[in-house]
Amino acid sequence: MSAGKEGDVLCFFVNGKKVTVSHADPETMLLSFIRETLRLTGTKYGCGGGGCGACTVMVSRYQAHTKTIVHHSANACLLPLCQLQGAAITTVEGVGSTKTRLHPVQERIAKAHGSQCGFCTPGMVMSMYTLLRNRPQPSMEDITQTLAGNLCRCTGYRPIVDGCRTFCQEANCCQVNGSKECCLSRDTNTEAGQEAPKLFDMDGLLPLDPTQELIFPPELILMAQTSNPQTLTFRGERMTWVSPTSLDELIQLKTKHPEAPLVMGNTNIGPEIKFKGVLYPLIISPTRVLELFEVSVTEQGVWVGAGCSLSHVLSVLRNVVGQIPGEKAELFRALIQQLRNLGGEQIRNVATLGGHIMSAFPNSDLNPVLAAGNSKVRVISGGGSREISLNQDFFVAFGKTVLKADDIVVSVFIPCSTKWEVVRALRQAPRKENAFATVTTGMRVLFSEGSRMVQDVSIFYGGVRPTTVRASKTCAAIMGRLWDDHTLGQAYDVLLEELDLPPSAPGGKVEFRRSLTLSLLFKFNLEVLQKLREMDVITEELPEEMQTQPLPREIQLGLQEFQNVSKDQKDQDPVGRPIMHRSALSQATGEAVYCDDLPRTEGELFLALVTSARPYAKITGLDMSEALQLPGVVDVITHKDFPGKKCFSGFGYDENVLAETEVSCIGQLVCAVVADTRAHAKRGAAAVMISYEDLPEPIFTIQEAVEKKSFFEPRMEIERGNVNEAFTNVDQVYEGEFRIGGQEHFYMETQSVLVVPVGEEREFNVYISSQWPTYAQDAIAAALDVPFNRVTCHVKRMGGAFGGKVTKTAMLACIASVAAWKTDRAVRCVLERGEDMLITGGRHPVLGKYKVGFMNDGRIMAADIQYFTNAGCACDESILVAEKVLLHVDHAYNIPNLRGCSAVCKTNLPSNTAFRGFGVPQSLFVVENMINDVAMILGRPPDQIRELNMYKGTSLTHYKMEFDAENLCRCWEECKAKSDYSARRRAAEQFNQQNRWKKRGMAIVPIKFGIAFSASFLNQAAALVHIYKDGSVLVTHGGTEMGQGIHTKMQQVASRELGIPSSKIYISETSTNTVPNTLPSAASFGTDSNGIAVRNACQILYERLEPIRQKNPEGSWEKWVQSAFFEKISLSATGFYKGPDCYMDWEKKEGFPFLYFTYGVCSCEVELDCLTGDYRTVRVDIVADIGRSVNPSVDIGQIEGAFMQGLGLFTLEELKFSPSGLLYTRGPSQYKIPAVCDVPLQFNVYLLPDSPNPHAIYSSKGIGEPILSLGCSAFLAIKDAVAAARAESGLQGPFSMDSPATAERACLACATPFTQKVPVCKPGSFKPWALNI
Ligand SMILES: Cc1cc2nc3c(=O)[nH]c(=O)nc-3n(C[C@H](O)[C@H](O)[C@H](O)COP(=O)(O)OP(=O)(O)OC[C@H]3O[C@@H](n4cnc5c(N)ncnc54)[C@H](O)[C@@H]3O)c2cc1C
Ligand code: FES
Ligand code: FES
Repeated sequence: MSAGKEGDVLCFFVNGKKVTVSHADPETMLLSFIRETLRLTGTKYGCGGGGCGACTVMVSRYQAHTKTIVHHSANACLLPLCQLQGAAITTVEGVGSTKTRLHPVQERIAKAHGSQCGFCTPGMVMSMYTLLRNRPQPSMEDITQTLAGNLCRCTGYRPIVDGCRTFCQEANCCQVNGSKECCLSRDTNTEAGQEAPKLFDMDGLLPLDPTQELIFPPELILMAQTSNPQTLTFRGERMTWVSPTSLDELIQLKTKHPEAPLVMGNTNIGPEIKFKGVLYPLIISPTRVLELFEVSVTEQGVWVGAGCSLSHVLSVLRNVVGQIPGEKAELFRALIQQLRNLGGEQIRNVATLGGHIMSAFPNSDLNPVLAAGNSKVRVISGGGSREISLNQDFFVAFGKTVLKADDIVVSVFIPCSTKWEVVRALRQAPRKENAFATVTTGMRVLFSEGSRMVQDVSIFYGGVRPTTVRASKTCAAIMGRLWDDHTLGQAYDVLLEELDLPPSAPGGKVEFRRSLTLSLLFKFNLEVLQKLREMDVITEELPEEMQTQPLPREIQLGLQEFQNVSKDQKDQDPVGRPIMHRSALSQATGEAVYCDDLPRTEGELFLALVTSARPYAKITGLDMSEALQLPGVVDVITHKDFPGKKCFSGFGYDENVLAETEVSCIGQLVCAVVADTRAHAKRGAAAVMISYEDLPEPIFTIQEAVEKKSFFEPRMEIERGNVNEAFTNVDQVYEGEFRIGGQEHFYMETQSVLVVPVGEEREFNVYISSQWPTYAQDAIAAALDVPFNRVTCHVKRMGGAFGGKVTKTAMLACIASVAAWKTDRAVRCVLERGEDMLITGGRHPVLGKYKVGFMNDGRIMAADIQYFTNAGCACDESILVAEKVLLHVDHAYNIPNLRGCSAVCKTNLPSNTAFRGFGVPQSLFVVENMINDVAMILGRPPDQIRELNMYKGTSLTHYKMEFDAENLCRCWEECKAKSDYSARRRAAEQFNQQNRWKKRGMAIVPIKFGIAFSASFLNQAAALVHIYKDGSVLVTHGGTEMGQGIHTKMQQVASRELGIPSSKIYISETSTNTVPNTLPSAASFGTDSNGIAVRNACQILYERLEPIRQKNPEGSWEKWVQSAFFEKISLSATGFYKGPDCYMDWEKKEGFPFLYFTYGVCSCEVELDCLTGDYRTVRVDIVADIGRSVNPSVDIGQIEGAFMQGLGLFTLEELKFSPSGLLYTRGPSQYKIPAVCDVPLQFNVYLLPDSPNPHAIYSSKGIGEPILSLGCSAFLAIKDAVAAARAESGLQGPFSMDSPATAERACLACATPFTQKVPVCKPGSFKPWALNI
């Protein structure tokens, strides 16, 4: 660092405006800077680790050497502020706004109903916007690739993809489908000349006009062209950042500070600092050292600068591949294959090749391929420059290479292949895209000219050792031999022994990983044979059934069918029409305000939580002295600070808000630190020392809880008929058990609350992301020992909730309120993703055991089903969940003798809570598997057994409630017909005969879901409607908006009842001072209850205006309102809904716990790769009876979103706990929710026509939850495909496969020759890496 050349002022542009920052803190990421300093809150925090895409922005730079401007998307959460010199950042606010001009991307995603809670929407917009800046006419492949790094938990992606599809110019898509008509506007069920209604219309959409985009700031071009770059140095509180300008300077720096990391894409170092708490006092950022970005193509291969981003590497390789003979491009193509699947686009745009190699991840996707392909790196240091092979000696340990600390990788050489060489890369990951691989490989074989004699072979694996590893012995077993079955047969045996894994190996999945090493080699073998045939070395055709083509991936246009409103309905009346979510445009422009978007108030503090590190222990000491010394820390809040109640007393059990003397799970809240900034609060929390004395024998699993009789009481039981007797009269009896894992809510907006003391009479305003503000109000008031009327909770909207923002949110709110009360300052608490996942629990894991008695004709005569739910350490709503499990044990089937028992297990895990479906998905899962088993035993298709046993006509549930099952049967018939079930089943069977390693599976599943709360008092709602003098209307009601569109529907209700356009109606928020004593937005009952309350209020107002209207029938709404005001007529009214008196008498085992049932049927088809367990949902058809939908677009959105959440639950999402009860899966990197790559290739939804429901508003039905359970159809379809694979191995009959049907479970259950080779680790003989809770 030569003196005088240093600069410490950062200059970049944001949305066309210049930003200069003196003394930038190296620890600050762009996300917090734009949100907190620039107050551009459109860009969201979802995970902080590059895994969700909520924070996507566009980064543009001028490249002086090529005189071009390049744009790429990036995750602002991993983008260091100090790296932005000379960059132009575009955030969602810079793209378009409702105030000026919307951008077509924003408009189309919104209008296509691609925004529900809206929290993911700005990120989606930015990804798509960047794509369009680079490619105004993208292909569908471009679109799905671009969106792969963006998660959405609400929509199920289909509408987002369809909105984006409108930009695409492919033959299968709009505008060029040959008919001059957009395919999105095609008619689907034109009846008697009436046009079928569409969910959204292409007419009038804004055209994409690239000339309207923000220009790149000329000042930055000038700066890049003329300025003599200076070394930049930024000093923060704990870190210094140096950005050299030349290679020499970089070498000097690295020689002097070998321990300082070189931060390039920051995708490894960033998460390390953030999640592992690593502190680097000095960081060197060589992003301006041009030598690191040079690319040169030679005859022998390509030299790629180590600083090139992976996206750039991808485009370089694609270019080269297009220009050289195919035989020379084997390695390039293999790398392209890996690069397409590595991370999301935002990651690939910043992560560098050098950073990737040097990160030396055990499951790196590129290192095995580079190594197999004989690549090398050019390295430079103070001692000079040298070239080093990327071979088995290069990667020495986890995250370590053979290079010395002061070595700098300058470039990477990727060689061309030769004619007789085959190179392939194969990987298997928990999710098809944007997921680190479970096992990944690079394999290369070189044949002697014109023969199958192996001259050289190189096989590298990732994911089986702490670092990339060469299967040297296996290679030796193949070298110098003929590539044939005999050689390969021996190679598998050597490989199995060579890459052994101990049963407790970190990462778990031991048998799966071992089996993958074999099956990926087998896949390579198939590809090599194919290649040898193409090279005329062998003549035999590879049998068709042996081929393994990749799974299909292109998402087709789906159908969404719904009934049109009646011809007589007034145009202005919006009820029954597919109206866009009322906030969709605000959400797409980033203007929509969420809790953490509220500006800071004067003196505001941030609260960070301190959680237990032990599963079951006495707290013997709490030392906060060090924390209190830290800069910015103001106070530490413990249970002693609570002026009022320290515990929650709901649901029959007390639960401490903050632990007092004992902790009963890892993640339990112990105390909280408040400080002036987030960073200071977090550092303070990390400095609090808790000492523990462990208590004996913590309980984690259901099995342990049952053994030790650790339950929350009461245990419930229900029975109809005489089950024991019936078992004696049946043809066959079978017993089985199934497990279904838990599920993380993964609402995109983490738990958030801001408490603002008003400053007088102990009054507090609480801004909270809660489904039940009244519950939070009550809890806060009790904690502060103030009357309820001093606490006002405001909920504008939530970024998703799914049941997870009721009890846990209220707890956090209590702590923040006590802190606000104690410090007399506003206190904000926003959980980080990892904390949220650790602390707040999720869906209950369930073990279901059943005994079933059935006749040989398929009739099920008796079933005895026991459910054990893992509630965790506190009761929360677990008893209610267990109750709902039992109320749905009959599911959709009329089993005459049916017994259900439900036990709630108390364990030392974080307490589980409500989750969309509230126990029904778990209940149904066991029943459906039981039916599947019966079908398998009888050798009949499961759909026949389902149909035979389904309720028909007027029926009685097992709790003696009468209902009409007609619509259930209609859904069933219609679904079979619409999905062409029988024909496709036959086609699948044929496919299975033709394919050995790929199988198709199908399932069709019904649902009957009870709507309303079984506790009568919960079935009520209220609303408050004001008409202002200008005629505008403000509606408030008890429901909260979490993306489900309740405010949109309430606006529709008010519009119809008042006879005015929706545009005159506004809904600002839900608040406890406008509508008191509200109930949770839950149980799919929000529209039913609040809709009637709003209708009631509007009808009262309408009647009050009647005399005025009579006097002036030709007058306008505004005139009537003004006249009413002058005539002293109240223009404000409350509305109320006194709902049904539901009840359930568990003594008598009968009741009326629901008002009605929502029905649905789903047919699902999947294609499974038996060698890896990877699958793709090929087609889904859902027929749902939701009465007459108030808003078909909102309801279809709920159906698609819930289905995808169910698909995640049953096939993908896996919570993993360590043997000591620590949740491993604490972010999107470890916990995979469905992404765009999981959208069914064809996804059709049909609303059952002509099925008015007399029990709910405008004949509609509740739909938020029911369809989630139908995700089970994907599980059963996979199981069906697995059964076909097992049949090839000679295995017939029922088999156990727990949920979720992950690739691991599906693959192992297929029992291929490869999985069968792997010895099973005997349970009990070792300590597994993860618990089976
Ligand atoms: C969300 C997410 C998803 C991911 N998915 C995948 C995936 O699917 N498959 C996969 O294989 N990987 C994946 N990755 C890992 C990713 O590929 C690596 O983190 C990335 O390539 C590292 O590059 P970087 O430039 O960001 O490194 P940085 O974080 O900037 O640096 C990493 C390390 O490399 C060193 N370093 C950097 N450049 C040099 C150099 N020129 N010379 C010497 N040392 C250097 C640094 O000192 C540092 O120690 C993922 C990462 C994230 C965050
Ligand atoms: S917040 Fe940046 S990727 Fe999730
Ligand atoms: S709309 Fe995508 S997360 Fe809610």
